[in-house]
Amino acid sequence: MIIAAPFVAVGHDGLDRRPVVPRHMLPSETGLVELHAGQVNDLSRYHELDYEERAIVSAAVDSRKAEFGDGRWCAHRALRGLGEDVPILRGPKGMPLFPSTVSGTISHTRGLRMALVGRSEHWQSLGLDVEVAQRLPEGGLTGVTSVRERRVLRRVGSRVPGRELGTVLFSAKESVYKAWYPLAGRFLDFDEVDMHLEITELGDGPGDEISGTWHARVLSRPSPVPALHGTWVIRDGYVVTVCGVQER
Ligand SMILES: CC(C)(COP(=O)(O)OP(=O)(O)OC[C@H]1O[C@@H](n2cnc3c(N)ncnc32)[C@H](O)[C@@H]1OP(=O)(O)O)[C@@H](O)C(=O)NCCC(=O)NCCS
Repeated sequence: MIIAAPFVAVGHDGLDRRPVVPRHMLPSETGLVELHAGQVNDLSRYHELDYEERAIVSAAVDSRKAEFGDGRWCAHRALRGLGEDVPILRGPKGMPLFPSTVSGTISHTRGLRMALVGRSEHWQSLGLDVEVAQRLPEGGLTGVTSVRERRVLRRVGSRVPGRELGTVLFSAKESVYKAWYPLAGRFLDFDEVDMHLEITELGDGPGDEISGTWHARVLSRPSPVPALHGTWVIRDGYVVTVCGVQER
């Protein structure tokens, strides 16, 4: 039986939503599940988790339990699409432990949770990050970018004044970390990656969707991969970045 990778977006009411992430942005043969969670902390999905999963955040505040439960809910729904569902425990440094036949990644922010999965025969690892599309706090951009990256941002950003490309760059670095850590097993700092963004689709209005690609050179050595490549979108008030390291 061939089981297709899922591409699903649902609201907290269980009804279908328009996905924030366009399908063409995803690495090939991967599946994405989005939960449009609304603004209240709903613990129902946390309570539905396996005991060992709940125990990971049992001492946390409700907002953390809610995002954890929602993120795991998305991941389980995605795994079931591949016919592979098991409890997703926590590995070193917070890394989610997917079954060995699957690569997966989870992200959550205010109102939106998501998980991306693919078969490990195609993808060594995957990275996904979602952020609210707002300016990084004062000083935030300098803390996560180099002079060269800020120059690129100014040049590329001049085509889309007022849009949050700094947040896109930050998010892409978080995606890099999520895909890189499971392969390298060590921390990667923001100045250990050189990030370059391009815009490929440009909406007409100030609130329209814009999207593009990104390329990250890993400066730290040794590194399991020299570079990672991904996609980004600003849509419906969110920034989402995605990447994958292909199986050789
Ligand atoms: C780990 C980190 C990337 C999470 O990003 P975030 O925007 O704070 O939170 P998100 O909701 O997007 O992602 C959280 C999820 O990431 C996943 N995650 C956490 N640590 C991880 C790791 N070491 N490797 C892979 N995935 C990880 C988990 O699934 C987590 O959700 P869960 O705890 O509910 O399972 C971030 O907190 C961090 O430590 N960043 C510093 C490292 C970094 O980004 N370096 C940039 C290198 S260029």
